[in-house]
Amino acid sequence: MRDVADRVAVVTGAASGIGRAMANRLASAGMSVVLADVEEAALSQAAAEMARDGHRVLAVCTDVSKPDDIDTLARRTLDAFGAVHVLCNNAGVVPRGRLQAVWEHPLDDWAWTFDVNVFGVLHGLRKFVPIMLAQDTECHIVNTGSIVGFISGSAHAVYSTSKFAVTRITEGLHAALRQRSSRIGVSLLCPGVVRTNIREADRNRPAGRRGDAVEPEAATYNDAIAEMDAVAMEPSEVAGMVLDAILQNRFYVFTTDAWDEAIAARSAGILARADPASPDMVELIRREGRARRGSLT
Ligand SMILES: NC(=O)c1ccc[n+]([C@@H]2O[C@H](COP(=O)([O-])OP(=O)(O)OC[C@H]3O[C@@H](n4cnc5c(N)ncnc54)[C@H](O)[C@@H]3O)[C@@H](O)[C@H]2O)c1
Repeated sequence: MRDVADRVAVVTGAASGIGRAMANRLASAGMSVVLADVEEAALSQAAAEMARDGHRVLAVCTDVSKPDDIDTLARRTLDAFGAVHVLCNNAGVVPRGRLQAVWEHPLDDWAWTFDVNVFGVLHGLRKFVPIMLAQDTECHIVNTGSIVGFISGSAHAVYSTSKFAVTRITEGLHAALRQRSSRIGVSLLCPGVVRTNIREADRNRPAGRRGDAVEPEAATYNDAIAEMDAVAMEPSEVAGMVLDAILQNRFYVFTTDAWDEAIAARSAGILARADPASPDMVELIRREGRARRGSLT
């Protein structure tokens, strides 16, 4: 999009973290913003604060894993603002037990994570892409993936798998829209570590998807994150990168290059028909921390 002023954005997961920051950034660039989130109190507060700052906002309580909620979100967006130009499919969750193996996670971890991270994105696309195509105006879709959607290894078994799916869905979306010569740009946001409330994702876990037990996080993981937290990227910085990508129509939005070696090793291993690379996730988090520290000093 060459300009976003006076256009309309829908942001899911807008009550916290990266979604909240994207909503703020897009509103500051002159957009009307529809905030969608399942956490009602945080959503109302975010909308009230943004309205107080003079932004045009609408809050719609939405569970992205429910197609009916997405239908309502689209209807209320069009009723309020008449069109939609930017969609940020951003809501996401991480189950605890990040160092558990693939077979160790309860099925509820897989179901909940895929319901939100994968089906949430799909429901958004299935509803909003046809609306955008019919509008035939400049539009842009940002799907929030993760850097772990490019990394192999044993850690983040459930979450990484869901984010690999988001990578592939978004690449497929981009290709299909280009084939149709549409006016819809696409970006895949691939954050490294960002300071948000994602580690308390369980707060939004539905009663029917609680899993067998809530696994305590491994101490090595917590230590690495605690070290990283002091220097982690702020959501507002990520939001600035996203707005730039929308305006420049750029697909991949990596927030750090500290994981590049691991991505390259995975690709090289595949081409060499070697066993998969198995990077140590905790070490990769520490490496991003060191890179941040270096860039901040
Ligand atoms: N923070 C990081 O380090 C990081 C890294 C890579 C990717 N991401 C991705 O960024 C996105 C945003 O996460 P964040 O870090 O800002 O976390 P966050 O927990 O601060 O925000 C996520 C928001 O999503 C909402 N949400 C959860 N389930 C929902 C549902 N079913 N329907 C609607 N909303 C729902 C939450 O209420 C919350 O407001 C996620 O997709 C996450 O996977 C985050």
